[in-house]
Amino acid sequence: MSLIEFNDVSFSYPNGFLAVDQVSFTIESGENVAIVGQNGAGKTTTVKMINGLIKPTSGKVYVNGKDTADYTTATLSREAGYVFQNPDDQIFHNTVRKEIEYGPRMLGFDEEKVQDLTQQAAHLARVEDYLEENPYNLPLSVRKFVTIASVLAMDTEILIFDEPTAGQDVAGLETLQHLLQQLQAMGKTAITITHDMDFVKTNFKKIFVMANKKLLRQVSPKALFQDRQLLEQAMLTQPFIMQLAEEIGLEDDILTIEDFVHAFSKNY
Ligand SMILES: Nc1ncnc2c1ncn2[C@@H]1O[C@H](COP(=O)(O)OP(=O)(O)OP(=O)(O)O)[C@@H](O)[C@H]1O
Ligand SMILES: [Mg+2]
Repeated sequence: MSLIEFNDVSFSYPNGFLAVDQVSFTIESGENVAIVGQNGAGKTTTVKMINGLIKPTSGKVYVNGKDTADYTTATLSREAGYVFQNPDDQIFHNTVRKEIEYGPRMLGFDEEKVQDLTQQAAHLARVEDYLEENPYNLPLSVRKFVTIASVLAMDTEILIFDEPTAGQDVAGLETLQHLLQQLQAMGKTAITITHDMDFVKTNFKKIFVMANKKLLRQVSPKALFQDRQLLEQAMLTQPFIMQLAEEIGLEDDILTIEDFVHAFSKNY
């Protein structure tokens, strides 16, 4: 059985608005998946069903063999950690340290383990220098890493990052890239929602494309960025290097700077 399985899943909000429409997919243990799609496509709603923050209106979501309909969010959050799109929906302690310690403490780990997990998570998210700060005195980009650290500290098998690239500078993007690589090396399963196509191009082999409440396709970066129709349907843009290659008339398959340099030197 797959680690995560969505079986014909739909979700309507209490006001009756259908946000996710008959979505099916599987994610295997250790995979590193990106979810892309325009605003309102249903990305956040979809991932919130993995850790039980919301339950499907119809269809089934299985996580580690558990039908999420039968388990509480508290139980499911031991399997899957979700980093909120907006850090201010997640942060509620007055120091970064307390914020990160909260999760592992709630899970009942002994104090030594809580401290180890806090240290490790702060290190991975590169917020060690801010441990005694009030999160609300930190810029949004750093607050996002505080929320990432507090989810990492719970040491779940599955990690879900909702728009971690939003508002990040080059250093922030590098921290995220490094973090995803570390998680892969640790055998964790990661799901990242992002609008940053350059980040998608370099960090993921598998991309879920969502549009209008549906999962359109599961593709490789190459397959996605060469499929004009799919890009248009999902309102996505090509990475900058591909746009540039097209603008100057390079015909080859270009996804990376290396591809570009190779094609450019052949043609000019
Ligand atoms: N609590 C809610 N009640 C009613 N409708 C909601 C609620 N939350 C979200 N929606 C609607 O559901 C749809 C899908 O929202 P969702 O947040 O899953 O999209 P998204 O793909 O994550 O978008 P974004 O890229 O803007 O974060 C949107 O039209 C949104 O307005
Ligand atoms: Mg969202």
